Order: sequence, then structure tokens, then C-alpha cells
Amino acid sequence: MPSFKLDDLEIPFENGDTVIRAAHKAGIDIPHYCWHPGLSVAANCRMCLVEVAPPPGRPAMMLDVLAWDAETQEYVPQKKPKLQPACQLGATDGMVVKSQSSEHVARARSAVQELLLLNHPVDCPICDQAGECRLQDYWLEHQGTKKRMRDEPVHKPKAVVFGPTIVYDAERCIVCTRCVRFSEEVAKDPVLSVRERGNLNEIVVSPGRQLDHPYTLMTEYVCPVGALTAIDFRFKARVWFLRSAPSVCVGCATGCNSFTDYDPRTQKVYRYRPRENQTVNKYWMCDDGMLDYRRIHENRVLVSSVSGEPTSREAALAKATMLLLDAPPASTAVVLSAEHSLEDNFALLEFARDVLGTTQLFFTGRAPGPGDQVLRDPDKNPNTAGVKRLAPQARPFAEFAQAATEGRFTHAVVLGSQTPTDDLAALKQIKNVLALSTHIGPIAASAKVVLPASSWAEVNGTFVNRQGIAQETERAITPRGDSRPAFRWVLDLARALDKPPAWYKLEELRAAMQPRPSASLAPAGGAS
Ligand code: SF4
Ligand code: SF4
Ligand code: FES
Repeated sequence: MPSFKLDDLEIPFENGDTVIRAAHKAGIDIPHYCWHPGLSVAANCRMCLVEVAPPPGRPAMMLDVLAWDAETQEYVPQKKPKLQPACQLGATDGMVVKSQSSEHVARARSAVQELLLLNHPVDCPICDQAGECRLQDYWLEHQGTKKRMRDEPVHKPKAVVFGPTIVYDAERCIVCTRCVRFSEEVAKDPVLSVRERGNLNEIVVSPGRQLDHPYTLMTEYVCPVGALTAIDFRFKARVWFLRSAPSVCVGCATGCNSFTDYDPRTQKVYRYRPRENQTVNKYWMCDDGMLDYRRIHENRVLVSSVSGEPTSREAALAKATMLLLDAPPASTAVVLSAEHSLEDNFALLEFARDVLGTTQLFFTGRAPGPGDQVLRDPDKNPNTAGVKRLAPQARPFAEFAQAATEGRFTHAVVLGSQTPTDDLAALKQIKNVLALSTHIGPIAASAKVVLPASSWAEVNGTFVNRQGIAQETERAITPRGDSRPAFRWVLDLARALDKPPAWYKLEELRAAMQPRPSASLAPAGGAS
């Protein structure tokens, strides 16, 4: 593999790599604003300048500059090497590049930083980006000097509403054009562009349009400063109070890798962020997925109930046990859920076979929705492939509804909250429905006994996406209300019915799930 030298390190690269991309792959950060590994190269911020040694036998490219001489109090002519943007510079075998080790580079980075901050407002105390802002980080790392300009800074529009999800602050914008390129290249909607020149330039939305494509929150995510903020997250939390759990979006069958950002003090989830996975979602998520964290806190089933009346866990479990004690296997249905993890579904599948002795297996899930060629899948369930892999014999919900309407079931144990169609009437035909639900919906509404199940953010779980990749999601917050992981409810039911499974802990359940699809928890993708 060809390689080049970056400071003291040998960096391998592939054909077509730029210096910054090869360094990024090797885990080395060359400071940058406008470059993003998932977007085209703009080379407009100049933060990534590096010094490149000339090939042997060739003179170095030098620039004539004027330097201030403090002794004579005059500018004196000098020469300095011509620096090059690492984001645009193609890597070649044997080249020698200086980044951290060049005093010319250090001076250039400090000067670029000073230029970018020349007209920048002192907004940090009220800026949502504070704590994860490139301008703050690089000021500390590469500049560290006080502002020298004494003039009034250039003022530009603030709090411009770009659309239903995004607000723009032109004074904070460094015009790196990441948001412009993202909209054009990834979302395929060139709705943003740059207006004016020099220190008057700003980002604008096309006339007659709003920033309203299905990936608007990614423009805020790629913005390296606080110029674009998400209406959903603005002024809600300080990022240094948040912790992150690696997770998988449960908004559709794509299974985008994400981080769940939550406040450990209040056990509240504030946002999702994409986690890099080149095979699944690259660097991105869609708006529906990014906002799907809200379901962790909204419309939840948080207490057990019997015949619609709230009750204690113990009383509901006792009632559920009574309900299933003499359930005739031939007229007892078990409904798995494409909304739930492999672990929950496996526990219930085993329960159907070993405790209830039924073969009447079905599966439910959320209704289909819009899809596209970027990420979004019309299947709005995260684990359809997993349920089909676990129980290929399970039949779709429509067949369950049909059989229920014909009065073929006296008992049903249903995992999940939603049905593809609002089949409340079919469910109501069955006298004894036991629901294991995370959310209020048709299933909990028609059940005699409801046991509150913990959501995907409250328990470790495995989901198989549309590509057949099994992905693990890690628990962020503690189970809300009286909820417990669905597999744990199933375990307690099986024990109460005197047929305990061979597993007790999650790890034992996972071991019992053999052959378990090899699950991956991709390493955290670094910020780009
Ligand atoms: S709004 Fe953000 S991403 Fe867009 S050009 Fe300005 S600084 Fe860059
Ligand atoms: S495409 Fe699907 S999995 Fe990815 S973020 Fe959107 S809803 Fe979530
Ligand atoms: S990263 Fe902006 S010029 Fe290279």
C-alpha cells in the first residue's frame, strides 16, 4: 500500500485519497471546517493548510510576504513556503507533509482562526453549539489570543427561520457551505445557496422555498459552528450535561446507527445523533429518525392495568397468570412484534412453544410510511427481518385479524403497541388478551391485562435491519415508570406458570438464542 509521511507518522492511503482523508482514516485530525468525509471538497475555510516538502531536486514553492519587525517598527520582506489545503491535496507515495510540526502551519491556522472570529458575535453563553463548537475548540488549540479588532463587527441577520426545523444565525456562520453541499449532494434538494461576497456573504433558502426536505436536521448536524440550530433542541439542554449511549434508530427497517443523548440526572433523552456506519447509514439519519427519540417519553404505557384499571405489577402478573393457566393451545394465539428486539421476541417465541404449547404464531408492527432512495425505508419497523428469521412460520397480522374476527381464538398474548391497520375490532373479538406494550395503542386498548414494556432506550437489545445485519443497541436510561423489559415479563410469567426457561439473565437469553445472528456494535464514529 502506498504511504506518505505526516509529521513523524507513516500514513497509508488508497488511490484517490486526499491527505486529510488518509489522515482521518488513520485516526489523525487535521483541523478543518469545510471538509466532511461524506461531502465533496470545497476547500474554502483554509483551516487545513499543511506544508509539503518539494520532491527531491525541485525547489520549494515560496511566497513573498511582509513581516512586522518590532525592533525597527517596519514591515520587512520575507519568504515563506506556500501552504496547501490538505482537503484538496491528493496523497502521493513518499510525499512528506508537515501539519503539527510546521511553525508556518501553526501561524496560518492561528491567522485563519482570527479571521473567522473577526466578526463573530460573543454568543457562546447563549449558543446551543457551545461545548461542541469547532470555533471554540480550535481557538483554544490553534489561536488562544484575544481579539485585536476594535471596530464594530459586521452585523447580519439573526434567528432566521429556514423552515419547520431549522433556525439560521448569519453572524455565527463561517460560510463553509457544508449545509449547502449536504442539501444538494445527499438530500438531493439544492434548496440552500450562498449570497453576496466577502464578509457580507450568508446562506439563503431558495426564493419561494423552505428548508423542508426529509433530512433538514442533518444540515444542523454538519454545521461545525452554531449557525444552524434545530428548533427541537434549541435552548433545551447544555451538551456537557448529556451522556451518549450507542444505539440503533428504530424508526424504520434501515436501522441507522445513532447515539442516544440523555441527561443522567433527569433520565431524559434529548436527541439522537448519527453514528458512522459505512454499510448502513454512512454519516446520516433522516428527520423522522432524529425526532423519533420523543416516543421514548410520549404516549407510554407506564403502569400495569387489568380491564383498563391501573394496578400494581404483582396484581397484573397474578391476573395474567390466571388468564393463561388453562388457555387451550389450539385457540391461543401469540403475536410477535417487529417493533421489539430479538431478545423480546425470542423469549415470547419460546413461551409460546414451551409454556402455552401453541403453534398459532403471528407478528405485528407499525403501518408502512414514506421511503426514499437515500435512507428511509417504507417499513417503519426496526426488526421485521429479525422476527422473520426467528420465526419464519409467523403469519402477518392481517391473518391474525381475520382468524380473530372468525372467533377462532379465546386467548392471545400480544407483544408490541401498534398494528399495521387499526384492527381494534378484531382484537376485541378475543376475550382474553394479554398485551406487552411500550406505548398506548390498539393492542393495549383491547387487552384485558396490560404489562408495561420498557422501550428500546431502556434496555439492551438486538435488531436486524433490512440488509440482514444484526445490530445491538445499548440502554441509555433506566426503565420508565413500572415498565420492565418484555423478555423479563415473559420470564416471570413462565416461572409463575411453573415452566421457567433455561435462562435468567440477558446474557443467558442471548446464549440460548443460538444460532444467534452475529450482532455488531460498530465503534463510535468520530466527529467529522
Ligand atoms: S450555516 Fe453552518 S454549515 Fe452552513 S455554511 Fe454556515 S457554518 Fe457552514
Ligand atoms: S432512515 Fe429509518 S433508521 Fe434511518 S434515521 Fe430514518 S427512520 Fe431511522
Ligand atoms: S478543510 Fe476547509 S479548506 Fe480544507
